[in-house]
Amino acid sequence: MNKSDELKALHEKWLQECACELRKNAIQCVPGDGKASAQIVFIGEAPGAKEDKDGRPFVGSAGKFLAEMLESIKMKREDVYITNIVKYRPPENRDPTSKEIADCAKWLEEEIKLIDPALIVFLGRHSMNHFFPNEKISEAHGILITGEHFGKVRNFLPLYHPAAALYNGSLREVLKEDFKKIPRAMKM
Ligand code: URA
Repeated sequence: MNKSDELKALHEKWLQECACELRKNAIQCVPGDGKASAQIVFIGEAPGAKEDKDGRPFVGSAGKFLAEMLESIKMKREDVYITNIVKYRPPENRDPTSKEIADCAKWLEEEIKLIDPALIVFLGRHSMNHFFPNEKISEAHGILITGEHFGKVRNFLPLYHPAAALYNGSLREVLKEDFKKIPRAMKM
């Protein structure tokens, strides 16, 4: 089986096995999306209303902004892999609980290990704090962190969440500047 078929099989397995309680209220599951051979993986928080409806991560307004920032560094959505720490929309877009994050964690772990990217970008504090609980997004954004996760020592770049930056002009500029650090971070 090639990597892309393996990834498909992995999602099919977890669609059956994921025990996350959020699945009761969501329209559908929103698995990770993108190239199995991607050198960069973005980890967001949880699907929103549009993602829940379409079954793909980051297809709403935060996703449009993410696509714009990818273009600004000459990358396309098709070149990368985008996923979330939880795979189902929390009711009313509330923050996912630690139990919900833990219930989806094995799925995330397996997809990242299979893709094995050069760089993992956290979109927002929820995904960062699951792996680096002592970091603060206001201090850690745009700074490469190294840590042993997903089976080996890897590089992680925390960024503000695009949805938070959409409605805050100064965060928006910070996020755009931090995004420019990605090409270099991928080579470290
Ligand atoms: N915000 C996220 O964190 N993930 C999505 O898929 C969409 C919006």
